[in-house]
Amino acid sequence: MMSESKYLPIYKHKAKLIQAVKDSTFLVVTGETGSGKTTQLPQYLHEAGISKDGTIGVTQPRRVAAITVAQRVAQEMKCTLGREVGYQVRFDDCTSQDTVVKYMTDGCLLREILADPFLSKYSVVILDEVHERSLNTDILLGLLKKVFSDPAKSTRGRSFPLKVVVMSATLETDKLSAFLSDCPVFQIPGRTYPVTCTFGSAVGPKDIESTGYIKEVVKIAFDVHTSEMAGDVLVFLTGQSEIERACDLLYEKAESIDYRYDVQDQTVDGLLILPLYGSMPTDQQRQIFQPPPPRIRKCVVATNIAATSLTIDGIKYIVDSGFVKQLNHNSRVGMDILEVVPISKSEAQQRAGRAGRTSAGKCFRIYNKEFWEKSMPEYTVPEIQRTSLTAVILTLKCLGVHDVIRFPYLDCPEERFILEALKQLYQFDAIDRTGRVTHLGELMVEFPLQPGLTRALLKAASLDCQDLLLPVAAMLSVENIFIRPGHPDKQKEADKKHRALASRTGSMNDFATLLSVFHACKSSDRPSGWCKDNWIHWRALKSAFSVETQLREILLRLQQKSDFPVETFDGNKSELLRRCLCTGYFTNVARRSVGKVFCTMDGHGSMVHIHPSSALFDQEDELNWVVFHDVLVTSRVYIRTVCPIRYEWVKDLLPKLHEVDVYELSNVAREEVTDDEMKQWESREAAKRQSEVSKEDVMKKLER
Ligand code: CDP
Ligand code: MG
Repeated sequence: MMSESKYLPIYKHKAKLIQAVKDSTFLVVTGETGSGKTTQLPQYLHEAGISKDGTIGVTQPRRVAAITVAQRVAQEMKCTLGREVGYQVRFDDCTSQDTVVKYMTDGCLLREILADPFLSKYSVVILDEVHERSLNTDILLGLLKKVFSDPAKSTRGRSFPLKVVVMSATLETDKLSAFLSDCPVFQIPGRTYPVTCTFGSAVGPKDIESTGYIKEVVKIAFDVHTSEMAGDVLVFLTGQSEIERACDLLYEKAESIDYRYDVQDQTVDGLLILPLYGSMPTDQQRQIFQPPPPRIRKCVVATNIAATSLTIDGIKYIVDSGFVKQLNHNSRVGMDILEVVPISKSEAQQRAGRAGRTSAGKCFRIYNKEFWEKSMPEYTVPEIQRTSLTAVILTLKCLGVHDVIRFPYLDCPEERFILEALKQLYQFDAIDRTGRVTHLGELMVEFPLQPGLTRALLKAASLDCQDLLLPVAAMLSVENIFIRPGHPDKQKEADKKHRALASRTGSMNDFATLLSVFHACKSSDRPSGWCKDNWIHWRALKSAFSVETQLREILLRLQQKSDFPVETFDGNKSELLRRCLCTGYFTNVARRSVGKVFCTMDGHGSMVHIHPSSALFDQEDELNWVVFHDVLVTSRVYIRTVCPIRYEWVKDLLPKLHEVDVYELSNVAREEVTDDEMKQWESREAAKRQSEVSKEDVMKKLER
């Protein structure tokens, strides 16, 4: 494997690269996907002795990439994973004292900066996959620029200056270099082969809402198998359930082939179908990289993860669905929602490029030319410009960055997103009216959870009933625990079991169901068998157990401090869980309006329905007020994981949704305010006074 790495394009530039890293604080490295940046550069730096000064840290936007790349590099360096080479992702730390090359998610490094702003244990920090423009990577870029472009700060707490390397697959290198004080750019010349792209005819601009593209993808992938010469296939779809379905369909079709007559290339004798998505077990992921047996064609059906983060050798054909699952802020419901959207043109080119690494390749796009022209944007919008910033803004504030509007962003988020985040933080009592972090905010930032859930957990802890919330928080942090079989009969059986689990709690409440499943499984003699009997994902529950332990550890550490808040509760004990949930979920309150339709109370007034997976589905008549965990948008807006509450419990909290003055919150800590800004601020103030909703008005409206 070591010798194999000599054939990677990066190898010829080893000495120059090491020198370039040594020579400057910031360095941008670009090169085609697959040239060896991620797996080789950290090893080169280690060999050159740089790790003697501290760990070499490499960030990845995706957790799967961090894990699989660390596995690969550990193999190449002939060491056990977790020793010299390790990885850290949320809730899974596989590093040790000996770790010199550490792969981690960008979120993990952001958390480390909270504890150690100068990153004193690192000699080099490599931000990888920067072209993906993930929210956390963008923030890290700004923070590293802020701290380390100042020589006085860059050596603080260390005897040598930290080196920052930014790696990207060719895009936007001038912009990156300009952002990082005009730092040098190291280009690894790639060798790529031509890829012929063809458009399909089945999917056009009007098919954006339909899921018919899955069948089309399967059809084309199968055509490739039967009519193209030997060579592996990579199929791009958007998520787990869709990928599993496509694999099933492909498998069925592949079964029916007579290889003597149906397949053009007589050297091909079989099809090996492999799914690849983020929450897949890692031992299964490893299979993806292995060459198929002789005479067998490998067909990997993947999410966007295979576009740049992971390179699979031997791919000659691409089947591109043209869609991706993306987290977007949905202004209709005022929340971040995972949506299936058309990819950008640059993304489509990146996908096609995967076929031309070792020889000429072909890319089959299932969509037509009109879809390309009308439905696909030129570039993907950076995450920072399309999602909620709440957790990130709290982190920045805890790092002492008060003026979050003028933070050095590579691309500024929309101001309304910053204001929205400040508003939420204020509503959860994480910052005060002057925009400063509160004691509660300092506690909240310690939890790698969304702020509402953390708020509910801290409320429970202050009432000494954390045992009610910890399992719930853990269960909401892992993938869906309920199995949904494809076959209709099995689906009925699973539904029945899930209903039974829900009714065990005695109170129709999806959060309580999660709690009850957690305990029932944990106390069972045969937990995996118990899961199988009840159509529950054992793997997901195992992760939930581990997450619960980790959250408990964080909480215990905080509770040992003398100023941890303590409150008393003199209500009905059986209401405790729901009362705590209200503290964190009052931003997600809905009230039944007519029939089965609910209306949210956050000012958006969206019309929502209870999702069929909820225990409260079809019980709507008995409900009045509910809180919910999240929202799913299809043709309707559904709320999922729902809990009935009483109006009295949120009565005092709801006005908080309307009273807050976001401009006041955002204008604090601006030392120098220019005249222009002052004028803008004054005109906003005036506009705001006009549209102001008084507290009384809101209360009256609610009580009606
Ligand atoms: O980062 P970059 O895209 O430039 O390349 P890389 O990820 O370092 O990949 C270099 C080589 O290692 C490719 O040929 C990959 O197929 C291979 N690799 C692998 O076989 N298994 C992994 N888990 C990761 C990379
Ligand atoms: Mg890479």
